[in-house]
Amino acid sequence: MIAANWKMHMTSAEAGSYVTDLIKRVKDISRTEIVLCPPFTALGTVDQMIAHSNIKLGAQNMYPAEKGAITGEISPLMLKDIGCSYVILGHSERRSIFGETDEDVNKKARMAMECRLLPIICIGETLEQKKAGDTERVIASQLKGCLTGIGDMEGVVIAYEPVWAISGGDPDIKPATPEEAQKIHSRIRSVIQEIYDKDTAESVLILYGGSMKPENAADLLAQPDIDGGLVGSASLKPESFEPIITAAEKSQE
Ligand code: 13P
Repeated sequence: MIAANWKMHMTSAEAGSYVTDLIKRVKDISRTEIVLCPPFTALGTVDQMIAHSNIKLGAQNMYPAEKGAITGEISPLMLKDIGCSYVILGHSERRSIFGETDEDVNKKARMAMECRLLPIICIGETLEQKKAGDTERVIASQLKGCLTGIGDMEGVVIAYEPVWAISGGDPDIKPATPEEAQKIHSRIRSVIQEIYDKDTAESVLILYGGSMKPENAADLLAQPDIDGGLVGSASLKPESFEPIITAAEKSQE
């Protein structure tokens, strides 16, 4: 799976021209699941444009209730209604800017699953935690916290996004090396095996986020435990997103 996290970018008109272009570029992609996660305001436009294509739709957040007096929030049923199959949950920007905790992410993930929306659950350590040698403990604790009470992992996607590697387009921020990322992905798979079982651990998709780009996508995707990418800045232009999708497709040949 290669998923685009557009974050707070793209008007509906911009999204429209992007999708017109991307659809043509990826029409022959058959092994890789392509997911676009636009901001809420562009979901409707993108949904209409990707009908009958090989592209799926995801949102970037949701509130954990079906409906209610909760001004300014969006429910999983609304996301289903507008065509979403996926929802990104617990992105580090939501954790750091809005104070979301593993418990919040867990509530959202359980409610999403109840509404048959598949969560892409983000985890990842900060630079301080990495420097303190705390990465594996943080990852395990986030996974356990976010997955509490989720009995069936079918369709749940995990995204490992080391906070120190998320660039937002800043060329000075360096991504994890494929070896560094593989080590943590393998650890994530073993924690999932501890919580669930071997079959679940083998089948769960673990995406890498934290600057997957055309330059490093093939090497990252060649790692045995990297099953795809959650792409930020490089997903904002069809010409930089397409080579990442093509690298994913080739890695499965
Ligand atoms: P960048 O690809 O801009 O580093 O962002 C990664 C990310 O946060 C994806 O969710």
